[in-house]
Amino acid sequence: MDTAKSEKIKNEIIERLKKNPTSDLLTLEIAKELGVTHQEVVGEVKSLEMSEVISTDKLEKKLIEITADGKNCLECGSPEVQFMNLLETSVTILKKDVKSKLAIVGDRGFASAMKLKFIDYDKASDKVSIKANVKKENWEKDEAQKQMILFSQENDCAKYDAEILKTFHKIHKYINIEVVKFFNIKKGSNFENGLVELEKDLTTELLQNDNWEKSKFKKFNYNALGKEVNNGALHPLLRVRTQFREILLEMNFQEMPTNCFVESSFWNFDSLFQPQQHPARDAHDTFFLNNPKYSKVKQRLPEYFEKVKEVHEIGGYGSIGWKYNWSEEEASKNLLRTHTTAVSSKMLFKLAEAYKKTGVFTPKKYFSIDRVFRNESLDATHLAEFHQIEGLIADYNLGLGHLIGTIENFFNRFGIKKLRFKPAYNPYTEPSMEIFAYHEGFKKWVEVGNSGIFRPEMLEPMGLPKDVNVIAWGLSLERPTMIHYGLKNIRDLFGHEVNVNDTKKASIYCINTN
Ligand code: PHE
Repeated sequence: MDTAKSEKIKNEIIERLKKNPTSDLLTLEIAKELGVTHQEVVGEVKSLEMSEVISTDKLEKKLIEITADGKNCLECGSPEVQFMNLLETSVTILKKDVKSKLAIVGDRGFASAMKLKFIDYDKASDKVSIKANVKKENWEKDEAQKQMILFSQENDCAKYDAEILKTFHKIHKYINIEVVKFFNIKKGSNFENGLVELEKDLTTELLQNDNWEKSKFKKFNYNALGKEVNNGALHPLLRVRTQFREILLEMNFQEMPTNCFVESSFWNFDSLFQPQQHPARDAHDTFFLNNPKYSKVKQRLPEYFEKVKEVHEIGGYGSIGWKYNWSEEEASKNLLRTHTTAVSSKMLFKLAEAYKKTGVFTPKKYFSIDRVFRNESLDATHLAEFHQIEGLIADYNLGLGHLIGTIENFFNRFGIKKLRFKPAYNPYTEPSMEIFAYHEGFKKWVEVGNSGIFRPEMLEPMGLPKDVNVIAWGLSLERPTMIHYGLKNIRDLFGHEVNVNDTKKASIYCINTN
């Protein structure tokens, strides 16, 4: 509020108290007289009260307003009376015409006349007629209208029977009742000092010049609400990610390092036995880098590079390969990783290296949750970058049963209990399965991920023991998060259009209710 207005209100209160210290001084009246809102007066009253210039008594009263229905009753009678009068003067009347003849009270007139058993209604012909035993004197007294007239003359709740008020308000909707809270103002203990500013703090200055002894201090308001703390909040995606991470850690998975967004085609595709003609390797699906265009993977791992070339071209390990001329140049191209399986592949290679060095293979459970990139056209459910949750277990003699069991265990912990698996195809897994979860909200099955057992053509060139199998799966982080928050558009969750306030309001932790 501007200071002039604030001063005006404060002065008015002080002046009035000076003139008539004993009579009532109501905030509602001050607002009316000064032509300001009640809220504005209350604001100033609170401030004067803080410095004890005034004190207040809290009061409340019911304010009553007659509605359009109430005015109609006052002028034309209650709906049933208007309706009966209409029936009396018409030869026949059809229910469907009542509305056009009696506007706002038509249907209500019909309903209460039915309730009072004044009329007969024949549904087939839609005809309404007055019951044989009902006479004009039965309805014309119109008690409700009489009460309304009396009420409108006095307009004072205190004089009215609570039951009648309730009927007027709740059933007939003739009146609106609003409870207003207001204050009666009296002089406070500090009134004589008027509007002198009180000290808010005991300052060094006050202590040094000894003025603290003479100063009057403002009282602390222990009821004041604290200032809202502008603290950080977890983005919904990060919150769900944290939860998935905890689940995987509980299941004894170790986190893989995923800090490289740029990968070589070699790790992203070739090491996974994905042929170079595969459509996913097209520039329409993958973002390739211009600078540096190529990786040095061949120089770093010449032996393994050669083995991957071989398995693509001529096969081995019981496979006939893809039978084409494998291009080193294609394999060396840098790209933004299209899936975190590139990271899994690198980790499995490291595991094989350790095995080759020590002769001991250590079973491992790995996971990662991080960003991947695809050259997609953007729409409500697709973005060019999103997050994948990836998991794998490398151990002896693992099969499909282990894979299904692990995935079920994982999803159950997140609260998703109904799962289905559908045979699918991936160049690097055999068999492969798509994972579907039943979405209770949408009442349908939704695809949540992809999985499989890594092929020997991928694992054996790395040098892993023959009887070691790797079961693995990957899913998007965005999909379960959207399901969790009921979002239909991925752009509400991820990207530059996300509403910061929504993030601030998002729950910090998700409690599993299933
Ligand atoms: N990489 C697959 C994808 O991007 C997911 C997957 C991971 C499938 C591991 C099988 C095994 O959809």
